[in-house]
Amino acid sequence: QLIKLEDYKETPYVIENVSLVFKLQPEATEVISTLTLSRREGTEVGAPLELDGDELTLVSVAIDRAVLAEEAYEASPKKLVVHTPPADTFKLEVVTKVNPTTNTKLEGLYLSQGIYCTQCEAEGFRRITYYYDRPDVLSVFTTRIEADKATNPILLGNGNPKDAEDIEGTDRHFAVWHDPHPKPAYLFALVAGDLACTSEKYTTASGKPVDLNIYVEKGNEDRTDWSMDSLVRSMRWDEKVFGREYDLDVFNIVAVSAFNMGAMENKGLNIFNDKFILADSDTATDMDYEGIETVVAHEYFHNWTGNRITCREWFQLCLKEGLTVFRDQEFSSDERSRPVKRIADVIRLKSRQFPEDQGPLSHPVRPTEYKEINNFYTATVYDKGAELVRMIKTILGADGFRKGMDLYFERHDGDASTIEDFLKCFEDANQLDLSHFSLWYHQSGTPFVKANGSYDEAAKTFTLELEQNTAATPGQDEKKPFFIPIRFGLVGPNGDDLAYTSVEGAHVDGDLLHLTEDKQTVVFQGIGSKPVPSLLREFSAPVKLESTLSREDQIFLMRHDIDPFNRWQATQTLMTELLIELTNGEEPAGKDAFIEALGHMAEDENLDYAFRGFGLMLPSEQDIALEIGKEVDTDAIGKARDAFSKEIGVTLYDTFKRIYDAMEMPATFSPDALSAGKRALKLRCLSYLGAAQTKESAALTKAHFDNADNMTDRMGALTVLVIWQLAGAQDALKAFEARHKDTALAMDKWLSIAARAPSEDAIAAIRTLTEHPAFSWDNPNRIYALIGGFLGGNTRGFHAADGSGYDYLAEITLQLDKTNPQVASRMAKSFGTWKNMNAERRVKAEAALKRILAADQQLSTDVKEIVELCLD
Ligand code: ARG
Ligand code: ZN
Repeated sequence: QLIKLEDYKETPYVIENVSLVFKLQPEATEVISTLTLSRREGTEVGAPLELDGDELTLVSVAIDRAVLAEEAYEASPKKLVVHTPPADTFKLEVVTKVNPTTNTKLEGLYLSQGIYCTQCEAEGFRRITYYYDRPDVLSVFTTRIEADKATNPILLGNGNPKDAEDIEGTDRHFAVWHDPHPKPAYLFALVAGDLACTSEKYTTASGKPVDLNIYVEKGNEDRTDWSMDSLVRSMRWDEKVFGREYDLDVFNIVAVSAFNMGAMENKGLNIFNDKFILADSDTATDMDYEGIETVVAHEYFHNWTGNRITCREWFQLCLKEGLTVFRDQEFSSDERSRPVKRIADVIRLKSRQFPEDQGPLSHPVRPTEYKEINNFYTATVYDKGAELVRMIKTILGADGFRKGMDLYFERHDGDASTIEDFLKCFEDANQLDLSHFSLWYHQSGTPFVKANGSYDEAAKTFTLELEQNTAATPGQDEKKPFFIPIRFGLVGPNGDDLAYTSVEGAHVDGDLLHLTEDKQTVVFQGIGSKPVPSLLREFSAPVKLESTLSREDQIFLMRHDIDPFNRWQATQTLMTELLIELTNGEEPAGKDAFIEALGHMAEDENLDYAFRGFGLMLPSEQDIALEIGKEVDTDAIGKARDAFSKEIGVTLYDTFKRIYDAMEMPATFSPDALSAGKRALKLRCLSYLGAAQTKESAALTKAHFDNADNMTDRMGALTVLVIWQLAGAQDALKAFEARHKDTALAMDKWLSIAARAPSEDAIAAIRTLTEHPAFSWDNPNRIYALIGGFLGGNTRGFHAADGSGYDYLAEITLQLDKTNPQVASRMAKSFGTWKNMNAERRVKAEAALKRILAADQQLSTDVKEIVELCLD
């Protein structure tokens, strides 16, 4: 069933108060929900009350303490309808029964390793009790949790703790939690279990004390230091940068091992995938440390952008997600190196969001229809959504942006809001019109921007011809021009930006140009010498820039641009051009000059270690496939990329070896940005040395693995050994397994590396790995590691010309759909690029997709929607 934004209507009744009692039992938990309801103004007296449910078993229903007669209501697993509710305020008491043990969808109330936990966003609360399960129904919740005391000594709910006592005459106890802040049901949470805890005291800027607690499975309590540290820094940062303080007496985080996504911002009780909480140097990589810092901050920041101000309906998801991703990116930029963080975020955007936006799953940041909301927690809503907020800041400047944000918090605190409300705040605070800009929220697709510059020596003018074009996307055939802020510089011969005396043809303010039409010719006056234009600095808009710069000019920017982002971008552009020509069997011009420039970049002591690590990284096979865009042959890409890596490795062998040998590492492990950057550069050098495939480099890589005193180095070296099939690879895999076999999160890394190993029969290898004790079809992290690692990291295997990868994906999509539709549909999204493949592969992919639809089983709305969109 298609849900449409235009159909939005308020509920006929208002829920003023919610009181919940949970009698927890592994297989039959009783939920007693008492709702204080009143008729909304404008609702007819006696209009039916219809509440959402999902797989619910009703025990009883009463109004104002009187049990309802059977003909007074209608109940199904999906719905409760009270035919003629009272005219005035009344109390509805509903008792339901749910089974946490068999809840394999991990939505609603479920058990993870003996721990009761919940996941209610987007529509999981209806799997607990009948409710108006939608974000615009805000209410004050009180929760009483009863459970067996021995197995569940810890009982947690939203808000502040109230009473807690033993239940006399039984071996059970209870705890009551009260959340004073009205909230929608998707922010409800409950946890019960035998958990270990680390705690810290925090005092807000205005002097309010807050107890911070991180709860984990017993035995993991010494792996929470970093997440606690990240939490404290996030809280401080939000006070300083956005003026936002925390608003309850306690802030609890719980880490569970079975969780569909990263984490969830439930009010006062964030629940996390343990991957984003647990870290120590032996089991977590530098990337894991960064990921934890980011996700802890993200969920914390939701307290204001998401919880205090929530969404009117799910079409507004980007209102909280895009904004909160922007906030977590800014936090990490302030904590670490801003340019390096920007590069990392753009790599992510281009590798995840660009393919989505250029294929059958393309949708606007603020969509207008969906069948299954869980399918719209996408890179477009999150990451492109963050880019749109970033553009607002770019256009308004830091002060104008802050004014708009202040007004947003002031005007909408306590509201369920919309993107229109949000944009209006920036307009009102700055007295300007963002209507053209707002198209970014509604029009999907990646705009392609073409730029062509020419210099007139005699007139001292530089002319920039700009053009934008967005290809049709599903449901949107005609595209209007976007409002594209382009940060730029005109780089003079000595590397400094040239100043212009005047400019015409576009609104230009300092180094910011507004491209607002399909085509614009911009003329800069008073340019004394021929510049090289550096466009889209800091990646000022989520567009694909097609530049007509020569390779020489690109190499010049790579060496001299004052914007580090564009130095990186120039490097990437060159690598991509060369790799595409190599894929086509051509011998590219300027290849040797480029490799030489790469060597300079590797050794440039003026550059950040992490920046150099990124700068030296070739685009992935998937990136190249997207860039080619049609009739893709993944084998040709893979071969070309391997050969080019090897050529770089051989040509710059001594350079890489010199850097590798000279790098001084701190005596003890520390996850700070500088140390992480050193490890990253050293490992990048190692990967090129490995690509050279010499005896010496194989031995060096194996030694790096053997001597590693932390997971970053161990995993980095293992990856090089396995990908390049160097001597010692098998031994290293065994050694890793022996060392980490009891640590699931560490074994996930092993699974993902093994899934990427080059192989004649990749599917047979994956099937064997699914039999490994470290793997389980019941835990999303294991599936994301092995199957996700294969789909995303083994391009040649997944897109094998014989269609075996597509067949396998169809098979596991169907299998997973029976237990966990969200995970199944996430995997199925890998079909999203099938139309870019060559005919041989397209035929196989299409057949696999059709096989899913034709299968003799009831498909979830999650999987069905994705497959249908892919086939459309
Ligand atoms: N709100 C959570 C976050 O981004 C994610 C919830 C995802 N839910 C889902 N059904 N996919 O912080
Ligand atoms: Zn979020």
